[in-house]
Amino acid sequence: MESSRRVAYLVLSIILVNWTCLAKAANNTGLGASFIFGDSLVDAGNNNYLQTLSKANIAPNGIDFKASGGNPTGRYSNGRTIGDIVGEELGTSNYAIPFLAPNATGKSILNGVNYASGGGGILNATGRIFVNRIGMDVQVDYFNITRKQFDKLLGPSKAKEYIMKKSIFSVTVGANDFLNNYLLPVLSIGARISESPDAFVDDMINHFRNQLTRLYQLDARKFVIGNVGPIGCIPYQKTLNQLKQDQCVDLPNKLAAQYNGRLKDLLAELNDNLPGSTFVYANVYALVMELITNYKKYGFTTSSKACCGNGGQFAGIIPCGPTSSMCSDRSAHVFWDPYHPSEAANLILAKKLIDGDTSHISPMNLRQLRDH
Ligand SMILES: *[C@@H]1O[C@H](CO)[C@@H](O)[C@H](O)[C@H]1NC(C)=O
Ligand SMILES: *[C@@H]1O[C@H](CO)[C@@H](O)[C@H](O)[C@H]1NC(C)=O
Ligand SMILES: *[C@@H]1O[C@H](CO)[C@@H](O)[C@H](O)[C@H]1NC(C)=O
Ligand SMILES: *[C@@H]1O[C@H](CO)[C@@H](O)[C@H](O)[C@H]1NC(C)=O
Repeated sequence: MESSRRVAYLVLSIILVNWTCLAKAANNTGLGASFIFGDSLVDAGNNNYLQTLSKANIAPNGIDFKASGGNPTGRYSNGRTIGDIVGEELGTSNYAIPFLAPNATGKSILNGVNYASGGGGILNATGRIFVNRIGMDVQVDYFNITRKQFDKLLGPSKAKEYIMKKSIFSVTVGANDFLNNYLLPVLSIGARISESPDAFVDDMINHFRNQLTRLYQLDARKFVIGNVGPIGCIPYQKTLNQLKQDQCVDLPNKLAAQYNGRLKDLLAELNDNLPGSTFVYANVYALVMELITNYKKYGFTTSSKACCGNGGQFAGIIPCGPTSSMCSDRSAHVFWDPYHPSEAANLILAKKLIDGDTSHISPMNLRQLRDH
């Protein structure tokens, strides 16, 4: 009796010890924090706190976002963004909290912080049509504030280790520098006359080099940088230019491709010049183009028409809001609104970034970057 109880106790403790080890191991391999920078593709609510014309905290945005019970959160989609999905898959226990949210204080920042802002770009002037937005210069300033908060929360040496080894810095930016700056007919006509595409892209790359280097100076080491997607194929551009279903606007796509080539070189340069850094290039252009071209293969019924929006044959002029029309099957559309992918599309894109091969994410995928 006595001895069998002892055996049972022993077995139980072995199980418990093993379980604890497993849980600890799980903690160790999981991502600590996800720091998210960029534009509306990954904004999780910062613009809710700005006086701006670029807002997504209005229904039916967020209708499929489980964590809010289908209420709008400021995400420019029906559900999760790529940033949300990547965080979930790599093992952070909560979504990165928007920097401007009043509760982005204390321990709530340990899973990461989101600085992205709808309308924001690499260049300061980008997005001024929206009156307010947070550009990359200021997003990095904000991370500098967060960085000091980590020192207070964890102590300087643990904080440094956590930021360097257990954190991923993702940056999704550049589309607005074209769509809401260089290509804007009225606001930038001066810039377009005086600045060639080459000079404009040069300007973007030089600013971006500076912004990424500043993040490195603040101990960021693991980076993933998205290139600019096929912005000539979004419902907004297709409607504006009255294109057919399977056509895309040439100039925006050409500008994106030109920038993307330079971005790839920039990341190679930074990988060489900044010791201990890993810059991963996410080929969002190729991924989104693949979805748009072969939408049927991925279970979509359209890649030209926005699910939520109004105006023209692709519902591409008026942004998604309470008065727009909404499609009946949200998972059948590649595009949620005139600019942004649906959650169904984001899930496919995120999966390829996490576990995909070097044709889409190089020199390693995000799971490898986490464990690197
Ligand atoms: C795992 O990490 C969480 C915080 O992220 C902590 O609360 C928990 O105690 C950790 N578990 C183990 C077994 O270390
Ligand atoms: C912060 O507040 C928002 C909105 O009130 C809430 O949805 C979210 O869960 C809170 N996050 C944390 C980490 O407290
Ligand atoms: C961009 O604007 C911010 C303030 O909004 C300023 O601190 C920063 O220096 C500007 N950057 C450039 C390159 O002009
Ligand atoms: C961070 O802020 C400090 C001032 O608190 C400043 O001296 C430093 O240059 C900033 N770092 C970066 C990379 O912006």
